[in-house]
Amino acid sequence: MALPYASPYVLSFLLLLSIPAVFFLAPRFLPPKTLPAIPDADETEDLALFRRAVLLSSAPSTTKGASVATSLFGRRPPPKVAFLFLTNSDIVFSPLWEKFFAGNHHLLNLYVHADPAAVLTLPEARTFRGRIIRGKATQRASATLISAARRLLATALLDDPANQFFALLSQSCIPLHPFPTFYRALVSDNAGSRRHHRSFIEILDNEPTLHDRYYARGDDVMLPEVPYDRFRVGSQFFVLVRRHAIMVVRDRRLWNKFKMPCLMKRKDSCYPEEHYFPTLLDMQDPDGCTKFTLTRVNWTDSIDGHPHTYRPEEVSGELIRELRKSNGTHSYMFARKFAPECLGPLMEIADSVILRD
Ligand SMILES: *[C@@H]1O[C@H](CO)[C@@H](O)[C@H](O)[C@H]1NC(C)=O
Ligand SMILES: *[C@@H]1O[C@H](CO)[C@@H](O)[C@H](O)[C@H]1NC(C)=O
Repeated sequence: MALPYASPYVLSFLLLLSIPAVFFLAPRFLPPKTLPAIPDADETEDLALFRRAVLLSSAPSTTKGASVATSLFGRRPPPKVAFLFLTNSDIVFSPLWEKFFAGNHHLLNLYVHADPAAVLTLPEARTFRGRIIRGKATQRASATLISAARRLLATALLDDPANQFFALLSQSCIPLHPFPTFYRALVSDNAGSRRHHRSFIEILDNEPTLHDRYYARGDDVMLPEVPYDRFRVGSQFFVLVRRHAIMVVRDRRLWNKFKMPCLMKRKDSCYPEEHYFPTLLDMQDPDGCTKFTLTRVNWTDSIDGHPHTYRPEEVSGELIRELRKSNGTHSYMFARKFAPECLGPLMEIADSVILRD
């Protein structure tokens, strides 16, 4: 008798109960809304490294001690370049880099961040051996590439106070000039404020894809730290001066935004590593940056966000001379991307073209 009256109540009660169940269970069956986030454990470990790097790099007593020593003895170690290789495979062009570094070891240090999945044999590469830092997994379309670059910067800051320039490169980069030409370009540039050296980092604000890339993590999630009109784009392949390397390693404010994973539906606009560095430096020291990169890349007919990859048959002295040409005050010093098979043809013209001005 009671059943016909009770059932609508029971039904609606059951329905009510099922609402939280749907919320609870749905994420297990629906595809995730965002790309994978950076693991907390990696973040914690990085933070400890970055804190140490900032503390030891900017301690005023050390700087003062250094300048007193300088004035007393009139000898200061010459500024060094930290070459930071960010790779997810073997560094096939290491023999070419060895030639580039030869005779200049007092002016440089080397650091390699490799994805743990990469197998590094580094054939005949004396300079590279023992220079591999503690690396973590990196993926495209994720902030892991930013983390890896910051890890390299922090390690190089801590390792040698003489590291004054920090050049980020990948396994598909090659040099276009002899080392002394590159070194002169860095130390002779002091058009920045207070006669400081400047960072060579591309900073652009007029890219057609900028809008989509700004919203890749969601609507308005970048606010208030990063308003759209302060959002910048540029190649990740930069040369930073020491004060900017410290700035990048110290930053937590912008990192908290840029580390957010992109929305799955906007993954084609997800290139955080091309935005974090130019946006941060343009906000904090725009006059200290040249706003262009020294690393040439060919975006003609690019496919799926990859630039043109040079094949062995394209390698020639003419190509090297062409790639050096720039519209800026400096000629290009490095170029990407070259297929691993280019090593042979590149070594053939190393002495006659690449390492000769
Ligand atoms: C850039 O790549 C295109 C092919 O995508 C090629 O035709 C062109 O020669 C390259 N430019 C230079 C300067 O190498
Ligand atoms: C230099 O500028 C010209 C004209 O704007 C452009 O066509 C060319 O691609 C530029 N070259 C380089 C190397 O950027």
